[in-house]
Amino acid sequence: MRSTTLALLGLLAAVSAAADERQVLLLIGPPGAGKGTQAEFITRKYGLPSVSTGELLRAEVKAGTELGKSLAPIMAKGELVSDEVVNQLVADRLAKPDAARGIILDGYPRTVPQAKYLDELLAWRGLPKVTVLHIDLPEAEIISRLTARGRADDKPEVIRDRIKVYARDTEPILAHYAGAGYHRIEGTGTPKEVFDRIERVLAPSRR
Ligand code: AP5
Repeated sequence: MRSTTLALLGLLAAVSAAADERQVLLLIGPPGAGKGTQAEFITRKYGLPSVSTGELLRAEVKAGTELGKSLAPIMAKGELVSDEVVNQLVADRLAKPDAARGIILDGYPRTVPQAKYLDELLAWRGLPKVTVLHIDLPEAEIISRLTARGRADDKPEVIRDRIKVYARDTEPILAHYAGAGYHRIEGTGTPKEVFDRIERVLAPSRR
């Protein structure tokens, strides 16, 4: 009897420790800051699934769905698609079983209404409060990285517009997240150097 109780207590302790380790990481930063690159590093090291709203939207465009057809001209200009569309994509993704242990959101939220929606969604799903990794990068570096990559929306005039949209619509969400859980990450240097900075935030004692 005593050994059964001890085994149960051990199981409960393990479950609650696992629950404590759940994390919702937000990768926020200007275009080309390295959000997608760092999401991959974090997934590889910590096993957290990640979702990029940009990738989900590009998949819709590529699939030629009605939604995709309506998104294509907006994305080609570097403008943001509507909050309703991305909020729904994220809500659907968070409903998948693997998100119950946490998730990395790359490129979401990008507006104050999206940030407020996410607060409610996480509370409703019983997920923890967010840890914000704000990857910052000077404009000159953004332009040189994206010009070298050459994605459809990496044309110089579109890059300039994406930077403007980021300053206008996305930077204001940093005030929404000011305080505990907010971390500015210097985005210059090699991908590994940036990841080292992220690890100092995520696992200072486990490195
Ligand atoms: P999205 O796909 O999110 O594009 P973005 O934010 O402009 O970001 P990027 O993918 O260009 O850059 P990144 O920061 O991920 O950097 P990456 O690792 O790729 O969004 C695209 C569009 O979708 C938006 O314009 C909008 O229309 C729409 N959208 C998406 N989310 C939305 C939302 N929430 N609401 C409304 N609309 C939304 O790296 C970039 C390049 O640099 C790569 O070539 C990489 O290899 C290189 N690189 C990375 N790190 C380094 C490093 N340390 N040193 C040198 N090179 C590096």
